[in-house]
Amino acid sequence: MKKIQIKTVKGFNEVLPPESFRWRLVEDKFRDLLEGYGFAELRLALLEPTELFARSIGGETDIVEKEMYTFADRSDRSLTLRPEGTASVVRAYNQYSLGKSSEINKLYYVGPMFRYERPQKGRYRQFHQLGAEVFGEESFYQDAETLVMLAQLFHALSIKGVELHLNSLGCDACRPAFRDHLKDYLSQRHEALCEDCRRRSLENPLRALDCKNPYCREAVADAPPISDSLCDDCSLHFTGLCGLLEDAGIDFQINPRLVRGLDYYTRTTFEFLAGDLGAQNAVAAGGRYDRLVEELGGKATPAFGFAIGFERLMMLIGSEVAPLTSPLVALIPLGEEALGLLFPIHVDLNRKAQVTTLSFQQKSLKSQLKKADKDGVIYALIVGQDELAQGEAICRNMRTKEQTKLPFERLRESLRELYHEC
Ligand code: HAM
Repeated sequence: MKKIQIKTVKGFNEVLPPESFRWRLVEDKFRDLLEGYGFAELRLALLEPTELFARSIGGETDIVEKEMYTFADRSDRSLTLRPEGTASVVRAYNQYSLGKSSEINKLYYVGPMFRYERPQKGRYRQFHQLGAEVFGEESFYQDAETLVMLAQLFHALSIKGVELHLNSLGCDACRPAFRDHLKDYLSQRHEALCEDCRRRSLENPLRALDCKNPYCREAVADAPPISDSLCDDCSLHFTGLCGLLEDAGIDFQINPRLVRGLDYYTRTTFEFLAGDLGAQNAVAAGGRYDRLVEELGGKATPAFGFAIGFERLMMLIGSEVAPLTSPLVALIPLGEEALGLLFPIHVDLNRKAQVTTLSFQQKSLKSQLKKADKDGVIYALIVGQDELAQGEAICRNMRTKEQTKLPFERLRESLRELYHEC
């Protein structure tokens, strides 16, 4: 039969060892931090009815118009691989009546998202997000707490040089006037806009503020800032948030162009930008969406959330995070009988997460020591014919080359002591 080599779909990012160890470590930090703040995990469907995203993200956004993996299933139902997590969390919040169990619900998720974008560094078609959503709290204290929590995560991961950009998009009371204002402004610059912005400028003029086309950017450079149109409640919310961030020592910049590429936002929007990431510089983003729960069939419920791009986060961490479970001891059997002696010890220690390596192939002492060195273990436990005869294993410190003897009857205890010392 003719052999063929099948590869991943273009732009679908996979995570291989040892990188996957580092991902786990970072994911654990994220989970610990969020659970400390009272968040609980949701594990959601990857595939949703297409309508969910069209209704929530907005029919005139790049994501919905150009980037979704949408197909008909065998019953001719239109399904979409989720391009983001918020819509699914809101769908679940309504579907399972999560608001009934408590007034405030804090939910987080970790997993793959899918967007048909042009792949490049930091931008993939399958990528991963660490995200969280809070339901039921309209106070700006919630916005501040969540942003402080994110800043804490970057700090805990030793990430520096991340800038917080902040804006307010107003609410149903004040945004219509701003949209009209912007529509007028855009209509005078119609010729300068790209085709998408021309088409969208009547129904959804805010999209022009988010367009990456350089001509559109130039055309909207002097557009009226939304801050001039905010109603009193929205102004108070925004200044309240800015004040809390200042008090907490979190630096930020107000960016009146920050409208985000999704339509569901009200009031606060934000992005954490990192210069080190190059063109795809947003490492995390989100905001408030006080209307979405109701628009998707639930009770009116304020909400605030964010998503971190996992790949981009890992690019910022570099190689500083060590693997979570590097083996500490290499068990080195020389012969079948020694392998039989060491195998149950290997299984026993690994069950208790005290990771050891053990080669099942009959390899020489030299090659096993070389492999132990490469794995970065600290101790090698060697058992050959002489050791079997004497009832003692050799324990070699791979760094100092010092060797001691450990009696067989106490091998498990001695190894556990080594784990405690390290
Ligand atoms: P988003 O800005 O579309 O927001 O995505 C959030 C983050 O996901 C981005 O800042 C970026 O780090 C990462 N990201 C997005 N697209 C890609 C891609 N193609 N390749 C790699 N990374 C990517 C949302 O998804 C909202 N659901 C955030 C949110 C949660 N708002 C409220 N709650």
